[in-house]
Amino acid sequence: MAKLKMGVIGMGMGRTHIRGYQAHPGAEVVALCDVDGKRLKTAGEEVGVPESGRYTDAGEMFRKAGLDAVSVAVPNKYHAPLTIAALRRGLHVLCEKPMATSVREAERMNAAAEKADRNLMINFSFRFTEAAFALKQQVKAGVIGQIYFGRTVWHRRRGIPGFGGWFGQKELSGGGPLVDLGVHRLDLALWLMGFPEPVAVSGSTYNAIASRLARAARKRFDVEDLACGLVKFANGPTLILEASWALNQGEGEHMVTALYGDRGGLVHRNVGGGYEFAAEVFTEEGGDLFTKKLDRRTGPTPSSYGEFVDSILEEREPLATGEQGLKVMKILEGIYRSAATGREVRYRP
Ligand SMILES: NC(=O)c1ccc[n+]([C@@H]2O[C@H](COP(=O)([O-])OP(=O)(O)OC[C@H]3O[C@@H](n4cnc5c(N)ncnc54)[C@H](O)[C@@H]3O)[C@@H](O)[C@H]2O)c1
Repeated sequence: MAKLKMGVIGMGMGRTHIRGYQAHPGAEVVALCDVDGKRLKTAGEEVGVPESGRYTDAGEMFRKAGLDAVSVAVPNKYHAPLTIAALRRGLHVLCEKPMATSVREAERMNAAAEKADRNLMINFSFRFTEAAFALKQQVKAGVIGQIYFGRTVWHRRRGIPGFGGWFGQKELSGGGPLVDLGVHRLDLALWLMGFPEPVAVSGSTYNAIASRLARAARKRFDVEDLACGLVKFANGPTLILEASWALNQGEGEHMVTALYGDRGGLVHRNVGGGYEFAAEVFTEEGGDLFTKKLDRRTGPTPSSYGEFVDSILEEREPLATGEQGLKVMKILEGIYRSAATGREVRYRP
């Protein structure tokens, strides 16, 4: 069977996408794009894509490279325009998180996918971990029951990505740790909860540490360094979301998603301050309280890149859809709006 021809835009995180596709027997990476010619050359040599498959202009790559699908892994501001342009060319798209810098853009991306009848997947890569897949299985099996409360968190002691670069400039990023880290933990919680409909959000943002660091280092920084929000859903549950790049806490990197139901509770958290994850479930059986820990998952846990390729080959929706990305964006935008106005944001049903 012919392999899917994949292109990747953006040679930072995009290099992880390339490795993900190269690990799949049904796909091959035939084209790369980056506006930075030096970065493009280095990446091309590293992953074995010859000069003829390297582009500094995404539009030219869409026209000339004969692609089936493309990854968009560039600064957030360019997610919507590049995704829409690729969909209009008939390509399936795996777009990095956050889906866009506004709800409006996310809606336009979904409309373009619908019109083109192509898959639009958002790279909510933290779902694609053994711990998350195992917990989803527990939820599906009814072990947790009705989830009514949760807390989902990613805090760093000091960890501003590319300090002074685009991540800290609202014009290019659309926001700070809320859209960079919080987006992953929010998606994970919503996925485990079955993507309930948000009805109201209130939030706060702070800039207590990063701006001082930026002034001292003469770097640009105009986003928050901590954001938090409280989300209420139509079917009753409440979720608290917290994210920061700089916080005076003990751990270097602290991630936890805890969801509580009427039959059991679950926790997905990082261990050892890194990107390894533990899954635990807490239940009551016959009046006794139990704690279960995941040792090893035996079922398959695809990478997000494998899932994207499989969804195209199997002609089905991907696991992380643009519609889900839009719901995530609505909550993120709501938190910023609430923080700016000091009022709760309510969503029309
Ligand atoms: N899923 C994850 O876990 C994860 C991890 C890291 C980054 N990301 C996301 O990936 C995206 C990229 O982040 P990064 O860390 O790789 O940033 P980066 O700055 O390291 O890399 C971005 C690259 O895009 C290139 N670029 C910029 N505009 C372009 C354009 N119009 N056309 C072609 N190339 C362009 C830049 O030259 C740069 O090489 C962001 O949306 C970020 O949120 C996701």
